[in-house]
Amino acid sequence: MAESDYVFVQQNQLPERFAALRAGEVFTVAETGFGTGLNFLQTLRAWFECAPKSAELQFISFEKFPLSVEDLAKAHGAFAELGTLSQALCAVYPLRLPGWHEMSLFDGKVRLIVWFGDLLLGLPEFECSVDAWFLDGFAPSKNPDMWQPALYTQMARLSHVQTTFATFTAVGEVRRGLQKAGFAVEKMPGFGRKREMCRGNCRKSVLSHRRRPGLRRRIRSNQSSSALWSLAPGWPAQRWHANWRSRAGRSECWRRGRNRGNRHPAIWPARFTRW
Ligand SMILES: C[S@@+](CC[C@H](N)C(=O)[O-])C[C@H]1O[C@@H](n2cnc3c(N)ncnc32)[C@H](O)[C@@H]1O
Repeated sequence: MAESDYVFVQQNQLPERFAALRAGEVFTVAETGFGTGLNFLQTLRAWFECAPKSAELQFISFEKFPLSVEDLAKAHGAFAELGTLSQALCAVYPLRLPGWHEMSLFDGKVRLIVWFGDLLLGLPEFECSVDAWFLDGFAPSKNPDMWQPALYTQMARLSHVQTTFATFTAVGEVRRGLQKAGFAVEKMPGFGRKREMCRGNCRKSVLSHRRRPGLRRRIRSNQSSSALWSLAPGWPAQRWHANWRSRAGRSECWRRGRNRGNRHPAIWPARFTRW
């Protein structure tokens, strides 16, 4: 938790930036690699300590190999201070279905959007204005597929001039990739015994205005949801997500889930899950 706080929360200056928000303002964090959700929970702690009550937090994260909710709870168990925040996350954590999942927490004051799949496939579909990036994910030497120019280009597309980023790595290839995409990059002392990390901000924005999260185009579900839906009444209710239609009658890419306000990508029985 201390490392998550130092690298991602402090180096993005989140406590100060949260405290400076105006009433009703929205702050958006985007993260590569949701993992156990510890960065999300650490961000929530800073949020509840510093942000005005009426402000809204949006946290968008991408995860290729989602953990089960049981594993999440186990990982959080090591940190007594996470008690109620961990419970709130575990209560809305989605089924491990590929695609987008949207969850609403704390009376709608926190919105968590998670993409289950490769982030380089999810990012291009996403449309919003990010205020702070958490570049987590395994080390570039172990996970070169993630640390690609395409990631930095997508970050630049979704950033504005006050957007910051922080990452635990300071390897040259990552710094050069970020600089080429339009970010100013600064090396900082790493956490604990780690020598260096880096952080920075977007130098020039292509965004003309701040946008709320949304999708650039409709997500195709991997299986025919209507066919599966016809089977649904025979299945235990909690294992299915209901179809959700917009007022215009078009089938939406996100489906309303068990927990009110939460949306999931498709109707899908849990046993078909890849993970
Ligand atoms: C160090 S862990 C992240 C820890 C996490 N932020 C937390 O707070 O617990 C790195 C995560 O990145 C995910 N990951 C690695 N490559 C990815 C990719 N290409 N797309 C999406 N997620 C990826 C891994 O599955 C892993 O869960």
